[in-house]
Amino acid sequence: MESKESSLETSTPNVSPSTAASNAYAIGLTQFQGFWIPSSRVPTSSIISFQKYFQALDDDIIVASKPKAGTTWLKALVFTIVNRHSYTLSNTPLNSANPHQLIPFFEIKLYRENSNPDFSKIPSPRLFSTHLPYPMLADSIKHSNCRIIYITRNPFDIVVSLWHFFRFMDDWPVEDCFEMFCRGEEGYGPFWDHVLGYWNMSLEKPSNVLFLRYEELKEDPVAQTKRLAEFLGFPFSIEEEKTGVVNQIVDFCSFKNLKDLEVNKTGKMAETILPNNKLFFRSGKVGDYVNYLTPTAVERFNNILEEKLSGSGLTFK
Ligand code: A3P
Repeated sequence: MESKESSLETSTPNVSPSTAASNAYAIGLTQFQGFWIPSSRVPTSSIISFQKYFQALDDDIIVASKPKAGTTWLKALVFTIVNRHSYTLSNTPLNSANPHQLIPFFEIKLYRENSNPDFSKIPSPRLFSTHLPYPMLADSIKHSNCRIIYITRNPFDIVVSLWHFFRFMDDWPVEDCFEMFCRGEEGYGPFWDHVLGYWNMSLEKPSNVLFLRYEELKEDPVAQTKRLAEFLGFPFSIEEEKTGVVNQIVDFCSFKNLKDLEVNKTGKMAETILPNNKLFFRSGKVGDYVNYLTPTAVERFNNILEEKLSGSGLTFK
């Protein structure tokens, strides 16, 4: 792997094409500022524009994640929590738009379409998202008071989910996807550097960075939704709790409900041929990886992870 010495300030980006694996996904990876970027979908020029021009506001909310960690679910929850006084669940825009359309990605959408988009007409709080690692965020975000919610997931379920995602477009063995992760050469990887960046910031600035786990959300969605609302500055009132608003939001954002919405059954994201529910709502389970990865493979990656995360206090079950 290439050196990770390039900095955000560098005027000549550190770019090199991946020779990692032979599938279309891996071929499209470029090493940039110390991470592997899927540059066929995310031109490094859009990242540079984002870093250069984005001006964060203190009440901005940013959903951050690695792909397949539960981004779509978190976006649905964040959108619903923040906008619950403007929309009921029957007229929320989530009934007619995929969560990714409502909380767009900086690098995949906004700065890819326009090098300096005009956000002046977006009402506060502005909702954005990113798959970029913490060190690659625009400095204005790091120096503002805005809130970042990072969601992660056990890396084995991420591997399997990612493999399924790209298998729709390109048949490749799950072992190749797993090997890519072990080398830290997957999109937006290495996994350990990505999670560590946000983990460390959540310890350093707990009122600005919330670190969430997919598994915790699955285990107790009501408690986590309350925690999320509290962090976002939109806590539920006693009255709302009494009248079941939290449960209604959790049910609305559940896997089954989102997957079965007409917009996700028939709607498609730009450049894809598959409906949203095939791309973003597959099985929604914890631990599905046991059906795809051998115990030996799991142990191998666990050893890598243990070494990479050692001393950080961050662990994955
Ligand atoms: P699986 O492929 O394991 O089913 P992302 O949104 O980051 O791309 O992550 C997609 C993963 O989150 C997929 O995992 C998907 O099924 C799961 N997912 C999407 N919406 C969900 C929801 N409302 N509840 C639980 N899991 C959800």
